[in-house]
Amino acid sequence: MAPELAEAHLRGLLSQLGLDAEYVRGSGDTLWWRKASGEEVPVVDFVGGYGSLVLGHNHPEIVAHARDLLDRQVPVHAQFSYHPYANDLALALNRVLWREFGVDEPYSAIFANTGAEAVEVALKHAEMDRGARVAALRESVEEHLATAPAELVEQVRAHNEGRFDVPPVFLTLAGSFHGKLAGSVQLTHHGGYRLPFRGLAAQARFVSDGEVAKAVEASRVTVLDVVDGQLVERDLPVVAAFFVEPIQGEGGIHVLDEGVAADIRAAADTFGFPVVVDEVQSGVGRTGAFYAASHIGLLGDYIVLAKALGGGLAKSSVLLVRQSRYLPDFELLHSSTFAKDALSCHLGSRVVELLEASDGAAYRQAAARGAALEEALRSVRASFPSVVSDVRGRGLMLGLEFADQSGGPGRLGEFARMGLLGYVLAGYLLNAHHVRVFPTASASHTLRFEPSIAITDSQIEQLVAGLRSACAALRDQDESLLLPG
Ligand code: F0G
Repeated sequence: MAPELAEAHLRGLLSQLGLDAEYVRGSGDTLWWRKASGEEVPVVDFVGGYGSLVLGHNHPEIVAHARDLLDRQVPVHAQFSYHPYANDLALALNRVLWREFGVDEPYSAIFANTGAEAVEVALKHAEMDRGARVAALRESVEEHLATAPAELVEQVRAHNEGRFDVPPVFLTLAGSFHGKLAGSVQLTHHGGYRLPFRGLAAQARFVSDGEVAKAVEASRVTVLDVVDGQLVERDLPVVAAFFVEPIQGEGGIHVLDEGVAADIRAAADTFGFPVVVDEVQSGVGRTGAFYAASHIGLLGDYIVLAKALGGGLAKSSVLLVRQSRYLPDFELLHSSTFAKDALSCHLGSRVVELLEASDGAAYRQAAARGAALEEALRSVRASFPSVVSDVRGRGLMLGLEFADQSGGPGRLGEFARMGLLGYVLAGYLLNAHHVRVFPTASASHTLRFEPSIAITDSQIEQLVAGLRSACAALRDQDESLLLPG
């Protein structure tokens, strides 16, 4: 037998949980699982590529468009040349943004390949912006010192010593997930992912919901200046940006509170740092709007999109930066071989077209199918109030949280204590009900549901039947049903 070389350890874990199914075909919300016998079994997919399949697997129009591009031998990679198709996509994203937020300021687009990569682009752009603001402050202080009395100059220099070189602070909310690369992982709350790599890059501060103003205040560093012969304190730009998800996905499906969003916006406006709205998972239509932040009126200075932007075929992401904060020189400092490629830009434009068609019918469909799914999940909660503690989310980004089972007896309690209960339930639902769900990795007793806008009533019923028997087994502590073998 050939050795297992591609993440063999993970495969072993999947196999223990009954999750090492091989899917050989996908269409809409169905994946076909090829069993060892050769038989192909349809599975309803509520994982949806971690939120990247708002149009489902292999949407026929996206596939046809990709096929056409390949047939026409469109050059996929033509770096350092004119890319009108990237501009077309940027314009399409802007048009939707202007409509949903009622603004008209253009946002410049910097393309990347993955969600975490676009977050890293935002980190770098924000730090470049902060660096320029620090330099401007330093220059202005120096200018004032040139004509200030000698004793004040000495005092100012002693106080300011080293302060202009303080590292940036990035703020984000507790429970956030912004990626797993060297910089973005610092903004990902889960200590298991973050702490082994904390030496690699600038640290974030994780802010609780009600403590935005307090956290910004606590991050303040001032320098001294001399104005009109008097010593004055001036704020040093320490906070480089505030990163926020309109709906936390990987952290357990938590919808951002409108008041907290307003606090973040107000703090950013007061201190001059950008708000980075991470729409990697919530964006591109799934919540009933293209930008989930538009539901709560949170206009980012930067907006990050990825996942569904690729139409389920391409790997693509983009950072949008409002013109008034955009640094053109950044374009000469940052690049990526594969970013802005023709295939992902063309497919991204087609995704926007499909969502915008018929006056936004797809958004209405997302909202309606989301409402149907949410109602179904709530009916499960109503039947099993001791087992299901919450149902939450918006549109087709929903979570169902199980009550804490970690104090429970037997192997179920043991799995819960290891943070694996959600995966045990996923294994049961797959094998016994042919339904694919996963917990959110940072909140492992919350299952998340992110199907496409085409999810049907009967597919939802199949999920509900599975969830009901899983809940009954949890209530009755029926290990043998959930943990066969
Ligand atoms: N930001 C958010 C809000 C995300 O949900 C993710 C990924 C990323 C950034 C990173 O994107 O994986 O393309 O590099 N979320 C996945 C999840 C991993 O499980 O929800 P990536």
